[in-house]
Amino acid sequence: MVARPPVMIVVERMKVEDLPAIHVIERESFSAIWPAHAYQHELEQNRSAHYIVARWGDEIVGFAGMWLLVDEAHVTTFATRGAWRRHGIGERLLLALLDLAAARGAHEATLEVRPSNVPARRLYEKYGFKVVGLRPRYYSDNNEDALIMTTDALEGRSMRERIAALRAAVAARPDIELGPDRLPVAADGPAQADGPAQADGPAQADGPAPSQPAEGSPGADETGIIRPSSVTRRPL
Ligand SMILES: CC(C)(COP(=O)(O)OP(=O)(O)OC[C@H]1O[C@@H](n2cnc3c(N)ncnc32)[C@H](O)[C@@H]1OP(=O)(O)O)[C@@H](O)C(=O)NCCC(=O)NCCS
Repeated sequence: MVARPPVMIVVERMKVEDLPAIHVIERESFSAIWPAHAYQHELEQNRSAHYIVARWGDEIVGFAGMWLLVDEAHVTTFATRGAWRRHGIGERLLLALLDLAAARGAHEATLEVRPSNVPARRLYEKYGFKVVGLRPRYYSDNNEDALIMTTDALEGRSMRERIAALRAAVAARPDIELGPDRLPVAADGPAQADGPAQADGPAQADGPAPSQPAEGSPGADETGIIRPSSVTRRPL
């Protein structure tokens, strides 16, 4: 058997050149996708926005974003490429977001998630997010409520200990094994996507026109300035 080098995943800042790959992952992950110009605005104009990618070589296998608003980190988007799910990519991205949030002085992290999105809810729960409220009929595609999930104080002992233990567990994960198709081999069978997180049908079937920002996409007022208090956030 030929020994292969371990699959190295690097987490780094998202760049405008990454947007075509982000679009591919968006389409397989969300029913309402952000158009590239919305991301470009986030990357180039919104100083509260922080977007990261997980990269294997030249390939982007996941991405995530958040807004750092005063002392709160608000996760705006999060997805792993279908074939790469269940290999710790989501955890690496979340660790990076939480590290960045803590380093920038955020007191807590918060997000919205669909009650039906079990994979995402389990991931967030693992990292200490708890349900603190509900936004009724938040998701316009199916009128599903959003759960609001928030962490305890990022600087507090319980979160710091939790993150340290999870970071160690991620570091100790076995290498990701790739098949002949250069996609990860699932531990219990071939790699499979979980499918779009929000869709009741094909991606973007009932989404906005491509030229319009998606529901809850990062927005600017008529002056072109993003105002955190007035902007609707990407519903996760
Ligand atoms: C949610 C998502 C980002 C998770 O990414 P991932 O790279 O597969 O996550 P990881 O492999 O790091 O998994 C970490 C934890 O998440 C949870 N999890 C992930 N997928 C799960 C699944 N299918 N079922 C149950 N729990 C799951 C588990 O707690 C897991 O920890 P474990 O391995 O100890 O069981 C991914 O499923 C995805 O992209 N979904 C579509 C987009 C989406 O829903 N984004 C979030 C919107 S709120």
